[in-house]
Parts: sequence; structure tokens; C-alpha cells
Amino acid sequence: MRVLGIETSCDETAAAIVMRDADGRGTILSNVVRSQLEEHAAYGGVVPELAARSHVTHLDHIIRRACEEADVRLADLDAIAATAGPGLIGGVLVGLTTAKALSAALGKPLVAVNHLEAHALTARLTDGIGFPYLMLLVSGGHSQFVLVRRVGDYERWGSTIDDALGEAFDKVAKLLGLGQPGGPQVEKEAQSGDASRFRFPRPLLKEDRLDFSFSGLKTAVRLAAEEIAPLSDRDVADICASFQLAVAEIISVRSTAALVRFKERLPGTPLRLVVAGGVAANKAIGIGLQRVANQAGAQLVVPPIGLCTDNGAMVAWAGAERLALGAADGLDFAAKARWALDSADMGLTHAA
Ligand code: KG4
Ligand code: ZN
Repeated sequence: MRVLGIETSCDETAAAIVMRDADGRGTILSNVVRSQLEEHAAYGGVVPELAARSHVTHLDHIIRRACEEADVRLADLDAIAATAGPGLIGGVLVGLTTAKALSAALGKPLVAVNHLEAHALTARLTDGIGFPYLMLLVSGGHSQFVLVRRVGDYERWGSTIDDALGEAFDKVAKLLGLGQPGGPQVEKEAQSGDASRFRFPRPLLKEDRLDFSFSGLKTAVRLAAEEIAPLSDRDVADICASFQLAVAEIISVRSTAALVRFKERLPGTPLRLVVAGGVAANKAIGIGLQRVANQAGAQLVVPPIGLCTDNGAMVAWAGAERLALGAADGLDFAAKARWALDSADMGLTHAA
């Protein structure tokens, strides 16, 4: 089956066509992503109203390009999938409404996709891995461990009690006068910095839980920066390196504990850790995770970075996975600003 996937929940306007064969293998036929980075640059963060308007302006053209690049006509599609939440509601409405219009006009099923489920299932598209597995989602809006049992069946094991990890990178970048998105900038600065110069806190780390907290760490960075202001280039690099070290350590310690829980809960099951979300691009975090995986005897799966960040292919794939199980949604499906992966309305009953 060939599925069109539409993603408009944040600041990427994206459309892709993915094919799923009878054996459950996926192929990306096209994957068009347009970042709104420049439109929001002057404001130091994503402006929801501007994001929604920009999705309106660009989405039609991006869908057309996705069809052209895949050499697939709209009439040849088997379903239309769109992110229906969670996210900035104006943007979600643009994508979901477009998908509904296409579904109605073409007479093809609509699949309303949970954006987090799309991140969670990407490793099955890229690496064909089987269920169950542990996912670490670290993006601009989310930081959580999720046990992925099967499509539509998730258990959240921990999440952030304040800032998301990507958000923490972005805020640290902002207070150091670096550009947005902050993650790549902080990582670049960190390369030439001395990570041992500042000893930043590792919030919650001593507690026996899988949750994260990054707000105190961010405040510690701010206080350290204020204390030595004005900052030299060296200061900025050292702060970035010290911050990144703290974060990488937090992620490693938590991931080790999450893998221990996986072993306890699912004895005899192959240990698999999948990373998703934009922060997966960070090399220091990736190296730490690889070490953790090696020590635990786990397989670490990090999809190519273009599929870790927001894109249409993950939405198309999640749509295809749901459709293959007979799930489709009505045109009255409401966009959701909030929609937890482990909520009751993930909408699949595993009767078989
Ligand atoms: O998944 P994503 O593209 O968007 C959503 O939030 O859904 O993630 C974007 C986040 C931003 O906060 C960005 O700063 C962060 O991922 N990020 C990074 C890196 N590249 C992107 N954080 C740390 N290191 C990076 N190399
Ligand atoms: Zn995302």
C-alpha cells in the first residue's frame, strides 16, 4: 500500500509517500520537508500563528512535490495520513484538514496519526525491528522513555517534569547569545570547550525513577554565565561543553536504568533501545548511549537524523502500520493539542 503522510505540528511543513509491502517492509518513495526556521528566527522561537499561516501557504505545493518525486498520482494512493496531535493546534489543523479534504475528494481512508507514535514507529521503517522495544524520545517538545509493545500499545516509563531536552539546549543557546535551534549550536561550541570547567547539577539523578528535569540545570547555566559575564568565546565553549556533559551523563544513567527495567519486565526479550527526536543528532549523547547499549547487551537503533527530526515519512509509515491493522479514522476526528501515547484514545483494539 502507498500512503501519503502530512506533518504540520510544529515548524516543519512536510509531506512524504511511503510504501508498505505485504511483509510489512517499508520504502520511502519521497520525503519533502520545508523548515520554517528563517520565518521564526527574529523571534527566538516558534510563533504558533506564523507557523500555521506558513503551513497554509506551503503545504499544497509540498504535497505536489512529494507526489512528483515519488512518481505517484493522488489517485494511486491507498490512504492519507496526517499528524492529528500533539502539537501547535493551528498547524495541526492545517495538516489534518488538508488530509480530510484529500480523503473525501479521493474516496481514500484517512488515518489520524499521533505524532509521538510516528516517532516511535520510525525504527520499524528504517531498520525493520520487531516489537517490543524501548524508545527514548528526545526532541524540542518531549523527553520520555516509552515501552513500545506494538502499534497503538505504549507504556510511558518516564518523562520530563519541566523542560524537554531539546528545549533545554535551545534555552541555553539563547542565553549564551547563540542562534536557534540551539542544539546544533551548543554541540558545535562544545567541541572546543573544556567540559570539566563547570560542574553543573544532574537534577533528579539520585532518585530511583525514570523521569527527567532540565530546568534546574538550565538555571545553573544561566547563573554561571552571569557570574563571569561578559563572556569570552572560550567561556561560551566551556559552558556548552560542561552543559552537554551533564546532559549526556543524565541520559546515559537513565537509559541504563530503563534497560534494567525492560529486562525485569520482559525477561528473555531481546534488548532494543531506539532513539527518536531531534536531539538524537547529538554525537556526545549518541556515544554515551552506544556505551550504555554495549554494557547492557542491547541493540541501539538510531534512525538517520533526517528521520529522527520531524518529517512526513514517519507519519505516512505510522498511517500504513495502522491501516494494515484495519484502523482508519472518520472525517470528524478532532485535532488534539495534547495527546499522550499511553492515553486510552490511541484507538486500536488488538482483538486478534
Ligand atoms: O524532533 P525535532 O526536530 O522537533 C520536535 O521538537 O518535534 O527536535 C528539535 C530539537 C530542537 O530543540 C533542537 O535544538 C534539538 O532538537 N537538536 C539538538 C541537536 N540537533 C537538534 N539538540 C542537541 N544536539 C543536536 N545536535
Ligand atoms: Zn517531533
